[in-house]
Amino acid sequence: GAPVEIDISKIETGQLIRAAWRGKPVWILNRTPDMLEILATDTAKLADPKSLESNQPESSQNEFRSIKPEIFVAVGLCTHLGCSPTFRPEIAPNDLGPEWKGGFFCPCHGSGFDLAGRVVRGVPAPTNLDVPPHRYITETRIIIG
Ligand code: FES
Repeated sequence: GAPVEIDISKIETGQLIRAAWRGKPVWILNRTPDMLEILATDTAKLADPKSLESNQPESSQNEFRSIKPEIFVAVGLCTHLGCSPTFRPEIAPNDLGPEWKGGFFCPCHGSGFDLAGRVVRGVPAPTNLDVPPHRYITETRIIIG
């Protein structure tokens, strides 16, 4: 599949947009400072906080799993059986329990991921969400693929 160019200049803070690459959904999320703070500190619940077992380019193998801390790019498919998780940025208490700090929730078998796509312990998904190969061609344009 061809690389896909995406303009990220209009993504508001806290907003997620969707694109497609190689027939897969790709998410681009502009994370807030509060979200980044939670990602940096709320790691005890995670199965692989350092993303040692997951699939991401080297440029995104860090605590935020991204090139720029605020801009998260991920393949929007659950690593269990490929359902599409839902974007659930809100903080608990909610229907996802008392511990939810914002993330992605897979309705198929209940896997939860944080807002860096890192899977929580004890759910069916075996690894963190994939981060696709991507790079910046300007401050506000990225190429996926
Ligand atoms: Fe997501 Fe099974 S496909 S938990």
